[in-house]
Amino acid sequence: MEPVKWGIIGPGSIAREFVSDLAFVKTPQEVVAVLGNSKDSTMEFAGTFNIPHVFFELDEFIAKGNMNVVYVATPHTLHHGQVMKCLQHRIPVLCEKPLTINETQCKELVDAAISAQTFLMEGMWIRFLPGIRLVMSLLKEGKLGEIVSIKASMGYKAPPDPDSRYFDPALGGGSLLDLGVYPVFLALLLLGAPDTIKAVGTLSEKGIDETCSILFHYNKGQHATLESSLKSETKLPVEIAGEKGTIKILYPWFEKTPGIELQLYNEAPVTYPIQWEGHGLYFETEEVLSCIQNKQIESKLLSHAFSIEMIKIMDEIRSQVNVSYTMHE
Ligand SMILES: NC(=O)c1ccc[n+]([C@@H]2O[C@H](COP(=O)([O-])OP(=O)(O)OC[C@H]3O[C@@H](n4cnc5c(N)ncnc54)[C@H](OP(=O)(O)O)[C@@H]3O)[C@@H](O)[C@H]2O)c1
Repeated sequence: MEPVKWGIIGPGSIAREFVSDLAFVKTPQEVVAVLGNSKDSTMEFAGTFNIPHVFFELDEFIAKGNMNVVYVATPHTLHHGQVMKCLQHRIPVLCEKPLTINETQCKELVDAAISAQTFLMEGMWIRFLPGIRLVMSLLKEGKLGEIVSIKASMGYKAPPDPDSRYFDPALGGGSLLDLGVYPVFLALLLLGAPDTIKAVGTLSEKGIDETCSILFHYNKGQHATLESSLKSETKLPVEIAGEKGTIKILYPWFEKTPGIELQLYNEAPVTYPIQWEGHGLYFETEEVLSCIQNKQIESKLLSHAFSIEMIKIMDEIRSQVNVSYTMHE
């Protein structure tokens, strides 16, 4: 079987994990091209992973990269332009979260994927993790009955470098787009789009949200309490409370969760341990490869409509928190 040929745009920290995880994909994979920014780090990346072709210009990468599929892992504000060009050249794309910095850009990419009939998926890797799949199946079995509320929080104490992508508005910095995207994703996955959104945040001098607290309310009576922070490290479990019990996803957003805990009211908790090899990014890769093989232009598990809804919600949160990337949108 011929290996699938990958091109990588943005050879930074997550791309490193993505490429090393290709070893765990069931079918043969190879990386044939990389597009980077600074020469030294791009050459080092290419050397580490034996990537034969190195580029610093997007047009050249597309023309000469000779890849079957591209993985985009650059800072947020670059996704739209890079993904658009790949799609216009009918190259399938897996692009890191958030797919774009706003809804308008996201719709433009989806339109481009449709018009080129070319696959596009947001790299919301946790959608494909065994733990999330287990939670979905426990809920489907009706273990909790109706969900009453969800609590989810992601905090990562980012290195205090004001020029890093975390704090730079020109790169789409801020806790919401980087971290809050995960709790928002989970609420959307389990409860759908909220009827009411309330959000507050604390802003940095440069005007990005260092922290964000979000409340979703649903007319059915459910709610979700969500948080993101670049100033504190949180390892709180996700808590899904239902009519019959609760599910906790322990240490939810990082490489490995110790497990999923199900506690039915008046019963002892049951822990389902979760284990996998590598970082866990290959679960989404398997989905991408399966969709491309089946000539789908989107994943049913993480559809274009889902990505649009997610960024639409984040636009609303950002507007309530007063974070604007106007100069870069
Ligand atoms: N799925 C996950 O778990 C996960 C985790 C972390 C991040 N992410 C997402 O992945 C993306 C990257 O995050 P990261 O933490 O990996 O950031 P990072 O370490 O800063 O990597 C970004 C890479 O993009 C390169 N780059 C910058 N401008 C470029 C351009 N014009 N063309 C090509 N490459 C360019 C950078 O090169 P220079 O350093 O030379 O500028 C760097 O190699 C973000 O969207 C983030 O939200 C996802």
